[in-house]
Amino acid sequence: MTWTNEEIAALVEPDRAHRKAYIDPDLFDLEMERIFENAWVYVGHESQVKNPGDYYLARIGRQPMMMTRDHNGEIHVLYNRCPHRGAQLCSARQGNAGRRIRCSYHAWMFNLDGSLDNIPAIDGYDGTALTIDGEDFQVQKAQRAANYRGFWFASLAEDGISLEEHLGEARTGFDQLIDRAPGGETEVVGECFHMVQHSNWKIFLENQLDASHPGATHESTGVAAMTIERDMRKAGEDPPMSYGFLSDFARLGIDGWGKFGTVGHPHGHCTLEGYMGLRPDDPDTNEYVKCMYDAYGEERAEEILGVNLHHSLIYPCMSIQPPLQQLRTIRPISPNRTMSEIWHFRLKDAPEAIYQRALGYYYLVNSPSTMVNADDLFNWWKVQHGLESQGGDWVSFHRNAGYDVIDGPLRKSPDGSMSEMPMRHMMHVWRDYMTANGKGA
Ligand code: FES
Ligand SMILES: [Fe+2]
Repeated sequence: MTWTNEEIAALVEPDRAHRKAYIDPDLFDLEMERIFENAWVYVGHESQVKNPGDYYLARIGRQPMMMTRDHNGEIHVLYNRCPHRGAQLCSARQGNAGRRIRCSYHAWMFNLDGSLDNIPAIDGYDGTALTIDGEDFQVQKAQRAANYRGFWFASLAEDGISLEEHLGEARTGFDQLIDRAPGGETEVVGECFHMVQHSNWKIFLENQLDASHPGATHESTGVAAMTIERDMRKAGEDPPMSYGFLSDFARLGIDGWGKFGTVGHPHGHCTLEGYMGLRPDDPDTNEYVKCMYDAYGEERAEEILGVNLHHSLIYPCMSIQPPLQQLRTIRPISPNRTMSEIWHFRLKDAPEAIYQRALGYYYLVNSPSTMVNADDLFNWWKVQHGLESQGGDWVSFHRNAGYDVIDGPLRKSPDGSMSEMPMRHMMHVWRDYMTANGKGA
């Protein structure tokens, strides 16, 4: 069906959203056009294309894109589409193209910035409209590309607010992912996990700051980890600290997650304050703190380590957990399929034990094989099925509705609550994007 702005706006009420927003194929196409192919969307980190000639593929909305590094060291975001007859230029997810990208179909050659370098038997074009520097014969660039401290985004809209303005105060998540490195740099570790969620992309975002779910959804995982910890202690062993990442889910109970505040930022971003013993008092952490003092001086190091942030959600495309160096980004495929990339970062010059601890979190909580992620994926799949049924039209976001604390441009959950403010906040921004005729939210 064709959706009018009025019909779309009616899908979002102050405390609930209509199920069609999660299942309708025409709305999905509009979301791709008005949100993902319009707003700033995460492409990747500069360390994914470390060397000249490197490329890495990424989807932005429905568009196949690639991030490349040219031989001057500059990064570009290009459409993965040959200007000759349209073939995709790079088919491997990542690689090194050498000096030039060569199209596999008729061997047109392109520089890593997308400019056309050469065509075999080029004299066949003598006297035609094709010129080597003609605009139509270059690989097209994303309309806008920008990075924040090495994290690259692109917007497929010609105009709009800058990346910095878009990120606003929510950029702290990226700052933390870098500043927590004694060496002042961070880089991706190897390849990411790719995983297809059988659910709508908004369900992933809603889950990220859903304080009322961990104690329920992950209860069995938490109890199993607590049992193992107890058995190890009985046997005189110290359980590894990373087991606590799991047992915490049970330790706090179903209703104990209200102490972690959530904040809604302009443009749909949301943040969650810290939890899970992010600054424990153990020899490895103390060695790391000493490295930070040596690198930054005590005052600045404490300023960095004192930021009370566990999780930043950058709307509409990603989630970052800087204290544990995790980053997840989503690439919607259809109303009920969402590709996700799950990345882990290494802090330059941090002790190996700190790296291993964060790697433990990656494997135990965020990877596709962990029970925690499986708990979530199963619920999201069940939500999608439920919303596709005719058993009810509305999704409830009523918890603490009407009690958000407004603080300038920020919208905060009331103290001690497990408010569904982040879900309401994101759906209101969704409505704004979807009805703003491409002007953003
Ligand atoms: S389609 Fe690429 S060279 Fe022909
Ligand atoms: Fe979860």
